[in-house]
Amino acid sequence: MYTVFLLVAVGASLFLGTVQQCCGPSKLQTYFDVLTFLPGGRGSTVTYNMSYDAVTKRVAYHVFGNSMQEDVDAIIDYRANMSYVWSEGVCDVSHANQFHEMCFPEGKLVRKSFMGVFPDIIKLNTYLISDDQGRYSFTIAKPCTPVEMERQQTDFLMLNRFYNMTLGIKNESVFTPPKICFKKESRISKTYETPLLYRAAAMFGQVP
Ligand SMILES: *[C@@H]1O[C@H](CO)[C@@H](O)[C@H](O)[C@H]1NC(C)=O
Ligand SMILES: *[C@@H]1O[C@H](CO)[C@@H](O)[C@H](O)[C@H]1NC(C)=O
Ligand SMILES: *[C@@H]1O[C@H](CO)[C@@H](O)[C@H](O)[C@H]1NC(C)=O
Ligand SMILES: *[C@@H]1O[C@H](CO)[C@@H](O)[C@H](O)[C@H]1NC(C)=O
Repeated sequence: MYTVFLLVAVGASLFLGTVQQCCGPSKLQTYFDVLTFLPGGRGSTVTYNMSYDAVTKRVAYHVFGNSMQEDVDAIIDYRANMSYVWSEGVCDVSHANQFHEMCFPEGKLVRKSFMGVFPDIIKLNTYLISDDQGRYSFTIAKPCTPVEMERQQTDFLMLNRFYNMTLGIKNESVFTPPKICFKKESRISKTYETPLLYRAAAMFGQVP
């Protein structure tokens, strides 16, 4: 069901000691597309939207389905140490992992640019970070909101594009799991964190 490729694993903890980072707004809602490119013209585009609240430590995702997979919804309530993932009337309940704020390492500043038409512009900084696995590039709008993130490895490229970002949470009910997640038959997952959540969280460096 969760045929979503690994999102950019920022591994913030990896860089924490060595690289300065900026942290995004504490409450936001945003759409993002995850584009993956693999050899032989294989790849996919998956659209998500996310509600993120660092104050109450809750994150909700909606994964828009396509011909390859159904819609998936997820709520991770880090404060309660609970995560809920549901799709097609089945809810997977498990524990959340440690909450990490949405922060971006400010590696080597490789480009300053702007989007839009002057003077109606948004200023961007692009940072580059490399490790033995490959390269990450982060394009961050000032003061600190993600616009584009790229992960490049041998034979693999992943691009995350953010759009329609708004500050605050319009409707808190986005963090309330549906009734099916509280039924006895809801699957209690043995796994510490489901693959989908792992992948989604990995994007913001929430997984070491
Ligand atoms: C996704 O967006 C829709 C409408 O655009 C909204 O109703 C829904 O709450 C959002 N979901 C999340 C998890 O942000
Ligand atoms: C969440 O619960 C699991 C299982 O009880 C536990 O191992 C883990 O340490 C808890 N995590 C946090 C952040 O409390
Ligand atoms: C993004 O915002 C525009 C302008 O408000 C809106 O028309 C469009 O439907 C939004 N896109 C999505 C995917 O919600
Ligand atoms: C919030 O969303 C819920 C579920 O979609 C809806 O029932 C409720 O009326 C909404 N509240 C507001 C203030 O829009």
